[in-house]
Amino acid sequence: MLLAPSILSADFARLEAHAEEALTAGAEWLHIDVMDGHFVPNITIGPLVVRALRPLADRTGATLDVHLMIDEPARYVQDFADAGADIITVHAEAVTHLHRTIALVKESGARAGVALNPATSLDALAYVLGDLDLLLVMSVNPGFSGQSYIETSTRKLQEAKRLLNGIGSSALLEVDGGVKPSNVGEVVGAGTDVVVAGSAVFGGERSVAANIEAFQKAVSLEGG
Ligand code: DX5
Ligand code: ZN
Repeated sequence: MLLAPSILSADFARLEAHAEEALTAGAEWLHIDVMDGHFVPNITIGPLVVRALRPLADRTGATLDVHLMIDEPARYVQDFADAGADIITVHAEAVTHLHRTIALVKESGARAGVALNPATSLDALAYVLGDLDLLLVMSVNPGFSGQSYIETSTRKLQEAKRLLNGIGSSALLEVDGGVKPSNVGEVVGAGTDVVVAGSAVFGGERSVAANIEAFQKAVSLEGG
C-alpha cells in the first residue's frame, strides 16, 4: 500500500514543514486537492501550491498526486504539469471529452488518472480503462475532508480491481475519502494500491508520525 496524505488537512501556515513530516514518517505521495467552487462547493488551491511543493518532492522522491475537482480540467492540465504535478487526475463527471482529456494529460508529461464520484458507475470508464495510469474511487462526495467513508465504496474497489486485472492493466487503484486506520485494512483487502488520507494523517491530537504509524500497523495486520 502507498499512503498519499491529502494536504487539504495540513496546516497551510506551515505547509511544507507539515507535508515533510508526513514524508519523513513514511508517506510516499502527497495528494493535492484542487477545487474550483463550481464542480464542488469548496475552493482550495491552484498550480502555485504544486510549484511550491515541487522542491520538497524532488528532495524526498515523493510523488505529487494532483486531484482536480474542477469543471473542464483540460483548460489547466498544462499549467499543473508545468508546475510539477506527477499525476493529474480528472473527474469523469467534470469532463465533456474524457478520451481526449486523458490523452492531453499524457501529452503534458504527467501520468493520467480518472476519478469517479460515489454514484458514478465504473461503466463510465469502459472505453478508456486501458488508457489509465490511475483509477481514483471516491469514497466520499468530493469537496471536504473529515467526512465518513461510504461503505459501498469497498465493493466498487473490488470491482474496479477485477476490471483492471481483467485487461492486464498496470493502472494503480486509489481510494479517497474517510479512510482511517480503522477501515484501511478493508480498503487494502479490496485491492487498493494507493490510500489517500487527510484528517486521519494531519488532524486529531496525535503527531503525524503517530497517525501514519497507525495506518502502517493496520495494513501490516491486513498483510497489504
Ligand atoms: C475530498 C478530497 C479528499 C479529502 C480526504 O474532496 O478529494 O482527498 O481531502 O480527506 P479525508 O481523508 O479527511 O476524508
Ligand atoms: Zn482528493
